[in-house]
Amino acid sequence: MNRMLRLFRTSIGSKLLVAATGAALIGFLFVHAAGNLLVLKGADALNGYADWLQGHPLLWGFRAGLLLLFAVHIGVSIRLAHENRAARPHRYRRIARLGSRLPGRLMPVSGGLLLAFLVFHLLHLTVRTVGPMVEPLHDGSGRVDVYGLLVAGFSEPWIAAVYVAAMVLLGLHLVHAIEALFQTLGFNHDSYQPLIRVLGPALALLIAGGFASIPLLVLVGVIGGGS
Ligand code: HEM
Repeated sequence: MNRMLRLFRTSIGSKLLVAATGAALIGFLFVHAAGNLLVLKGADALNGYADWLQGHPLLWGFRAGLLLLFAVHIGVSIRLAHENRAARPHRYRRIARLGSRLPGRLMPVSGGLLLAFLVFHLLHLTVRTVGPMVEPLHDGSGRVDVYGLLVAGFSEPWIAAVYVAAMVLLGLHLVHAIEALFQTLGFNHDSYQPLIRVLGPALALLIAGGFASIPLLVLVGVIGGGS
């Protein structure tokens, strides 16, 4: 156990922690986006899915696990960024900054803004203290009307804009994150590069694009237009 803790304090151990928690969070986002896309099948499908999740006996275990993943991922990333900055002489830091690619340079910014979005998102749809509410909150089967909440929320252009902007940031964050993940895992041989260059943006587009399509389709009336 002590050995494990010592490993995670080293630079490579910290990178592995960020990579492992990042991979788990990507898995969560994929499942979360797929679940929410049930909105395309209508109110019954989405509300039924949300109701099943809310009533799941492992819900609080899952929430605690997710919180731990976010906390470790963010905490260790911040520590690594500080250590990297401190280890570089000032002149080299400027040259390195000029040379590195845009999504990589944006990681701390996109990560911080995504954290702010997550707080907004939880206040909007989990705590439900931000954005328009639906009246009544429950559908005809007594389940929380998550479909109605999404349609009411994303019919407000400013809320839809916040979500779409956050998903653009999420896409940029994921493109670089997936590339960095492969590097940390040792897939940095030249022969892997073409695959990684395609896989990163494709997965990022699938997840961020899938999420962003929901507010956009509500705004143009494809989702919820008849209700
Ligand atoms: C358009 C994009 C998104 C939509 C439509 C959406 C939708 C939802 C909905 C409807 C809920 C509440 C579920 C319920 O109470 O039954 C929820 C909860 C949640 N969402 Fe999202 N989400 C989006 C993006 C994201 C992103 C990008 C993240 C992470 C960065 C995220 C993380 C979470 C978390 C952590 C919860 C709380 C889960 C829980 O109750 O334990 N969501 N989301």
